[in-house]
Order: sequence, then structure tokens, then C-alpha cells
Amino acid sequence: MRNITSYEDLVKNFDWSIAEKELDYQKGNPINIGWYCSDRNCLKGKANKIALMWEDYNGKTKTFTFNDIRLFSNSIGTFLQQQGIQPEERVCLFMDRVPELYIGFLGVLKIGAIVQPLFSAFGPESLFTRLENAQTSAIITQKKHLSKVRKIIHDLPHLRKIFVIDSDETSLKDKEVLLEMEKLPKNENFECYPTYAESPSVLHYTSGTTGQPKGAQHVHYSIIAQYITAKYVLDLQENDIYWCNADPGWVTGTSYGIIGPWSNGVTQAVLDSGFNSQKWYEFIQKYRITVWYSAPTAIRLLMRDGTDLVKQHDLSSLRHLCSVGEPLNAEAVIWSKQAFGLEFHDTYWQTETGAIVITNFPGMPIKPGSMGKPFPGITATVLDLQTYEPITTPGKVGLIALKPGWPSQIRTYWNNEEGFQKKFKNGWYICGDRASIDSDGYFWFVGRDDDVINTGGHLVGPFEIESALLEHPAVAESAAFAKPDPVNMEVVKACIALKPGYEPSEDLKLEIMNFVRKKLSPLAMPQEIEFVTSLPKTRSGKILRRVLRAKEFNEPIGDLSTLEND
Ligand code: WT7
Repeated sequence: MRNITSYEDLVKNFDWSIAEKELDYQKGNPINIGWYCSDRNCLKGKANKIALMWEDYNGKTKTFTFNDIRLFSNSIGTFLQQQGIQPEERVCLFMDRVPELYIGFLGVLKIGAIVQPLFSAFGPESLFTRLENAQTSAIITQKKHLSKVRKIIHDLPHLRKIFVIDSDETSLKDKEVLLEMEKLPKNENFECYPTYAESPSVLHYTSGTTGQPKGAQHVHYSIIAQYITAKYVLDLQENDIYWCNADPGWVTGTSYGIIGPWSNGVTQAVLDSGFNSQKWYEFIQKYRITVWYSAPTAIRLLMRDGTDLVKQHDLSSLRHLCSVGEPLNAEAVIWSKQAFGLEFHDTYWQTETGAIVITNFPGMPIKPGSMGKPFPGITATVLDLQTYEPITTPGKVGLIALKPGWPSQIRTYWNNEEGFQKKFKNGWYICGDRASIDSDGYFWFVGRDDDVINTGGHLVGPFEIESALLEHPAVAESAAFAKPDPVNMEVVKACIALKPGYEPSEDLKLEIMNFVRKKLSPLAMPQEIEFVTSLPKTRSGKILRRVLRAKEFNEPIGDLSTLEND
């Protein structure tokens, strides 16, 4: 039995208050994500139910019940308070997918502080930009990532504490404090800080075309949407064993890697390890995964390794598959039906939406290649590219737009209300993507409406890459843009004009690539560099990344007359 009987019925009867009621939330009362994901499950008789089954790349395993995650998040919360962390201060989580990341997330929220998860593969510069912007007070990290933090700490006056989960006292330096979760005193009666619906909760950094990444600011009320979308889209149920591939450094890994499953009281499994088809199938087989939330790039890699490998494993536990992050190509849907006997269900959303907004619902006929239909409670349309009026002609491409006001919508960009306001036109929130709607109301993704690069489901901003490139002594100017890629959909390409005295060479290319990888991350590293003598620009000197991108995609460059006057 699915949670959803029919899409039409759900639409007819839907109201967000259904989720409020199911979560026993009444308007005006405190609401705290940390409490909902742990304490509430214990109060509902699930104290001894398994919340987290964890395994790392070495095969080391750990298991936590809901009572364990309640107590450990209490302990972390108490510890942070004792260390002087105040409500609404930003606490960054900079860790691999270790249990402390998931439980620490709840602990930070329980004291009313704002949790800022950052991808542990980030280099010092990516880390610095985000910690500086958020004026982060503390960071929780692992010994293996400490050197990156140490490189930048002196330029971050707000950063008072660095908590290390797995070090020894003697090797710690100034401001560094040991935080060993399992050795902290147990705290049965921790009082959660009374956060309310509009209290800030999670701060996720996301890339745009211009400027450095922006801090998308979520609130505790977002749980209303994350809970009910996890219930109706991921179809999470009492006996499920759920697996979300995403890293909590990105929004999927928090909205549906922590809040969605745990607000539903569902057991989840976490694999702290890189991609490997064989390993993934073994993981599904071993933990009897029932619901799997993955991403197109991963699915394409699985496809590449073929169905024979699938058949060598017992994956019969699987019952529902979903995907997010990039367009899910029709071939991947068709392949998954052959390989697993189940279709991947595409889900569309963004850091800013906090929860799934357009999707293929369980049981709804899938048109392979389509993203499906809006979640009930979400008013979605496509707007004319010029007039910003809703398009009524089926199949005509426009901008994906949503009526503001759903529970998990971000409330602003951190310290950048102006940037946030730019996302609205004509009373609509503009997602920044293009799509069309067919005569059955299914949405079809076309592409992004800006210069942001989507590599394997991760957005990287050209500005951040270009800024890093400019720090290299040989680079005079550069443009970073997307190049098509069979697996990652897009990868970063950079066109670079060299300073006088520097000669183009293969060695220099490798040196520059490595330079960006170390400063930012492997994702942001250009996979290809082309040395040029000049870059196409508008009359006012803005680099026309779109022209370079169009060349890579073999697309028409289009009308440049408007761009020229930018
Ligand atoms: C952008 C948001 C929220 C999940 C992770 C990414 C692209 C996301 C789809 C999809 C085509 C998709 C869009 C979107 N995207 N899902 N199902 N089909 N494109 O969150 O980093 O904020 O990126 O990812 O371009 O705007 P994000």
C-alpha cells in the first residue's frame, strides 16, 4: 500500500495543515527540528527503533536507536552551550558522513543555533568564503580536515571554536577543543531551546551566476514540507529502510538525508564512502534497503556497469526509487525498470525550495524524461521569458516559477535580502530553470536560465571559479562555463588568457587545474582548459560566458544584441 492513493485525490484534499496535525504542531507553539527528529519518536514509542545504520569505506559499522540519537544530540547541545554557543549563532558542520554529522545536526538545532553544513571536500578557499559570509562562530570537524581550517582561521575573527571529534588533546592548538560524542556525559532531561516556526534553522550555501555563493536561510517550520513530501513522494513507511545517497553538505542530504526520514520516524542507512557500483549493490543487499533516493549521475554510472552486476545481487528489498539534482534522462528511467524492475521517480527542487516541489508520484504513470507534476500545496507554472506571464500553450518553454509561501521556502539569503528579492517577478518566485508543461500537466525540464554549472547534481558558480583562477600568477582573465559530459551532465571548462611572459603548455594547464581543485574542490576544478588571447565581452566589459557555453553544446549563440548592451 502506498501512502498516496491518487494524485488527484491528494490535490483535492491537500492542505499543509494536514502535516501540522500529523506532527501535533499548533500555530504559535515552539517547533524544533532537532526535537522532532529524535525526542518525538521516543515519545511515540520508537525509542528502541533503529534510526541510523552506518557503515564507512572500511566496512566499519555503527547502529543508533532513536533514543541514542536523542541522548547524543542532547549531549552535543549541552556541550555547545557550555562552550558558549548562543541561539542563532552559526555552527558549521565540516565532516564526512560520520554519525556525528547527522546527530550533531540535531544537537545544533536543539540549542536554537543555526546549522551550516559544508561539503567536507571543500578546500580552504571555498570554506573561507562561506564561513566569512555567515560570520560563523564555531565549526565541528574531523582531524583529517583540520589542516584546511587551520589555514584560514586567522582571517576569521568570528570563529571562536573549532571542535574536533576524533583527535587527542595534546595535538590541539589554539581555539581547538575535543568533542568526542560518545564520551560526553549523558543528558536525559535536556530542554530544547524553544525555537518557533520562523526561527532560523539550516543555512545552506548555494551558487549563483554572480558573486560568491549565497546562504539560503531555512526555518524550523520547513519540517512541515519535508515531513509530508517524504511521506507522499518518497513514500516512507513504518518498516522502510531508507537510503539517501546525498551528502548533508548539500540540501538533499539534510532535507531528505536527515529531516525527511527522521520526522517520519523511519530507519535510515548511511554509507560513508565514494561511488562504487558493486559496493552500492552490496550495501542495498546487506541492509535490505527498501526506498532509495539517488541522483542521475550515479544512475548513469550504474548503467555503465551494466545489468549483469545488478543481477549478481539480491536487491529484492527495493520497492521505491527516486532521483534528484539534474535532469533524469528517459534512458535512465527505462534502464532502471529493466535492471531493478522499478522506475526511478524524478523529483525537482532546489536549495531555496527546501523540499520537493515537482515530481513523479508513486503510482502515477511516468512519462520517461518528464519531472512529473507539482506537489499539492505548490502552485507551479512556467512564465513567458519576456513578459513573466504564465504560459498557457502546452509545450512552450518558459521559466519555472512557484507561488511564494510554501513552508520550506527559504526566508532570505544570509545578509543579502536584495539578492533574494531579485528572485521574484510579477508575484512569482523564479527558480532559474527553463521547462515546458505538456497538455497533461507534466513538466519537462529544458535547462538552466543562467550560467551556473550543474556537475553531477552539484551547482558550481562561475564567479567563484574565476575568482580562484585569477589568484594564479599566470592568469590574466578567465571565463568558467559548462561543457557537456556523458556522466556528470556538465563539467567545468575554463577559457584563460595568460599574463605576458607566460606560455601556454600542458603542464601549465595541469598546474592551474590542481590549483583550483585544492583551493575550492574537485567539483569546481576545470576538466578542460583552453588558452585564448581574448574573451568575448559585452560593451561594458562583462564576459559572455553564454557564447562560450553555446559553442561547447553546439547550440546557436542566439541574439547577442541585448547581451551586448548589458
Ligand atoms: C538546481 C538546484 C534540490 C536538490 C539538489 C540540488 C537542478 C534539481 C532537478 C531535476 C532537472 C534539476 C535545477 C535546480 N535540478 N533537480 N529533477 N531535473 N534539474 O539543489 O544545488 O539548489 O540545485 O538543480 O537546475 O534549479 P541545488
